[in-house]
Amino acid sequence: MRWLGVTGRWIYDFRTNLVAQGDAFYRDAFYHRCMSEVLEQESKAGAGHAQKYTRNNPYHSNVNVNYQLTAEGSEKETRHIELALEEGMTYAPGDAVGILPENRPEAVEDVLKALGYKGDERVLDHNKVEISLEEALRSRLTIGKLSRGAIGQLAKLAPTVEGLQNLTGPDNRARAEEYCWGREFVDLITDFPGTITDPQQLFTILQRLTPRMYSISSSQKAHPDTVHTTVRVIRYEAHGRERQGVCSGHLGDRSAVGTKMPIFLHANNNFRLPEDPTVPVIMVGPGTGIAPFRSFLEERQVLGATGGNWLFFGEQRSKLDFLYQEQLEGMVKDGFLTLSTAFSRDQHNKVYVQDRIEENAKEVFEWLERGAHFYVCGDATRMAKDVELALLDAIAKGSNGTLDHANEYLANMKKQKRYQRDVY
Ligand SMILES: Cc1cc2nc3c(=O)[nH]c(=O)nc-3n(C[C@H](O)[C@H](O)[C@H](O)COP(=O)(O)OP(=O)(O)OC[C@H]3O[C@@H](n4cnc5c(N)ncnc54)[C@H](O)[C@@H]3O)c2cc1C
Ligand SMILES: NC(=O)c1ccc[n+]([C@@H]2O[C@H](COP(=O)([O-])OP(=O)(O)OC[C@H]3O[C@@H](n4cnc5c(N)ncnc54)[C@H](OP(=O)(O)O)[C@@H]3O)[C@@H](O)[C@H]2O)c1
Repeated sequence: MRWLGVTGRWIYDFRTNLVAQGDAFYRDAFYHRCMSEVLEQESKAGAGHAQKYTRNNPYHSNVNVNYQLTAEGSEKETRHIELALEEGMTYAPGDAVGILPENRPEAVEDVLKALGYKGDERVLDHNKVEISLEEALRSRLTIGKLSRGAIGQLAKLAPTVEGLQNLTGPDNRARAEEYCWGREFVDLITDFPGTITDPQQLFTILQRLTPRMYSISSSQKAHPDTVHTTVRVIRYEAHGRERQGVCSGHLGDRSAVGTKMPIFLHANNNFRLPEDPTVPVIMVGPGTGIAPFRSFLEERQVLGATGGNWLFFGEQRSKLDFLYQEQLEGMVKDGFLTLSTAFSRDQHNKVYVQDRIEENAKEVFEWLERGAHFYVCGDATRMAKDVELALLDAIAKGSNGTLDHANEYLANMKKQKRYQRDVY
């Protein structure tokens, strides 16, 4: 980033620090923004494909394949999952699959115990259908990561409980965010017991359990009857309890081959391969960000696309975390793919995908000048911003231009839909 100069460097450091400090908050806020965009697109996607099954009417898909891509000893558990499709369900590279998870039985049990209920109590769900409390906690309500909204609703039931009141209102926002971090609903009702007097109140306190989106990592031209995903299972320990992400945990622990998962396909028209197969593509996808690019590459292979394919992939360690190594190296061997890898923890100094872009700046710019489309997928909070800076750097260097000129060049690429991002 040398060309940025003192002011640019300061802005860059400031943004990086800001994001690092508020990582949790930014990540969650960003996810919710992404999900709102997904919902908005879904409502507009009348003319899109695969509309028979939706989040409210999902397809109960068979899990055909589910294995760990990362090797024993990796700090990550990233899985490759293949889900069966019904005839007529179609998707395109760049699309996502929505998966409706259930909360894990242990988490449901913990909440029931903390509330003093057995689980067979009757409640009305969001559609006013009578179900058991156990079913509500398992499949309808967000009992995983805690939200400020849930604290606020619980506080309304206990106006005299000072500890709860101290976590509500605009003045206590930061304190409430801090309290929520790493906590789940069970922590809240353990810290503030006896507030809930009727199980139906849970439908006011807790948000609806929502589907999670996953970038599709297969081409349907290569796999007509299945949709593939690449999922990092979230597991961590916080406040004395083992935690896991609701959906990734479900996929990691309770979705063996043969089980059923409710799914729907989601079109994403803002992340598309060029229509012309002779146009080159540059793809930047560290970690699970590789998912849509496996789909892109498979599609272009089947189509016999002649435009060049250049993938920047990064992960922690080459021996443990090289997702789809065999398939990618096969493509390299066939002369179909240019692969630049950045294994951040294989050496003392961290090396990231943007460092590889910087090292190859001249050639990256040449590809752009030949009309290449540039795609980024994966971490929104830091990676996507750093990659954009590296791209601007490559453009500025390649064109002997200023930062202003590089920004203009990139804005033009965006207009032509040649710079597309799918970040979360
Ligand atoms: C368009 C789109 C595409 C996506 N594609 C993919 C993909 O291809 N692959 C993929 O794996 N994911 C992808 N995601 C993310 C995915 O949708 C889910 O958000 C992810 O799997 C987590 O969901 P979960 O239900 O497992 O976790 P949740 O139950 O939602 O919990 C996640 C939350 O746990 C908390 N948390 C996580 N780690 C810690 C920690 N160490 N300490 C304290 N709290 C923590 C954070 O608040 C985090 O937001 C995509 C998202 C979008 C919007
Ligand atoms: N919403 C959610 O809860 C959720 C669920 C799953 C994934 N995600 C997010 O999705 C993204 C993908 O996760 P992942 O685990 O597959 O991969 P990841 O965390 O993005 O890690 C992949 C590689 O990127 C490196 N990296 C770290 N910071 C970087 C930066 N600023 N620029 C470029 N590379 C950087 C990592 O290095 P080091 O680790 O060595 O620094 C690692 O080598 C992450 O942001 C992850 O948090 C979010």
